[in-house]
Amino acid sequence: MTLLALTRDVSPAIARCELTHLERTPIDVDVARAQHDAYEQCLEAAGCVVQRLEADADMPDSVFIEDIAVVFDEIAVITRPGAASRRAETPPVADAVARMRPVRRIEPPGTLDGGDVLRVGRTVFVGRSGRTNSAGVGQLRCALRPLGYDVREIEVRGCLHLKSAMTAASDTVLVVNRAWIPTADLTGFEIVEVHPDEHYGANVLHLADRVIHAAAFPRTRERLEQRGIRVDSVDLSELAKAEGAVTCCSILIPA
Ligand code: GLY
Repeated sequence: MTLLALTRDVSPAIARCELTHLERTPIDVDVARAQHDAYEQCLEAAGCVVQRLEADADMPDSVFIEDIAVVFDEIAVITRPGAASRRAETPPVADAVARMRPVRRIEPPGTLDGGDVLRVGRTVFVGRSGRTNSAGVGQLRCALRPLGYDVREIEVRGCLHLKSAMTAASDTVLVVNRAWIPTADLTGFEIVEVHPDEHYGANVLHLADRVIHAAAFPRTRERLEQRGIRVDSVDLSELAKAEGAVTCCSILIPA
């Protein structure tokens, strides 16, 4: 089976990105592009086939392609991003995923960012956040319930997305920052907590035999390695200034 990683180039306008929890600091577009290239190389080294969509000068956040579509084995859900400035990012991403899956769409008044959706096997955690509202969660649940997914809603506070606070490092291990989500509903999973000095360390991209993780979080990396998880680190410091992380920069599609 091929694992396609859909990515999108860094926009020349990234300095005008949305920011919710970070102060704006200068972003070097060339460095951001070099880091994004290295990220794609990391995906290829893990066996992914990378397909990169073009950037758009009017879409500062378009490199964070994860927010635009969520792909399951059976369907793809085209989101309606919570930030109105990001809704124009949708058409090329929808065209690309529609070639691989039947498509459902989040409709108004629903909003949903892909960064708020974490699938782990047949469980789907959905964050209700500043970007994803109850209507968006409800529409996703209606699309997935007939397919047999266990959809669990989680309230997110203090960070941008659910996947800022929690991701999966394997089919059984979750990496979690308990400061930003309640953890009572994580039954059935092992939890690795981020190191207390690494608030943003919970974002890992789970591939078949490893995770990709930002190099900024070495102590959380140690905790993962102690569980026997292979960690490939990549420097995404410029994209982090735009409130991006490793999962945000790709959509993984088994093809
Ligand atoms: N800058 C990433 C986002 O706000 O969507």
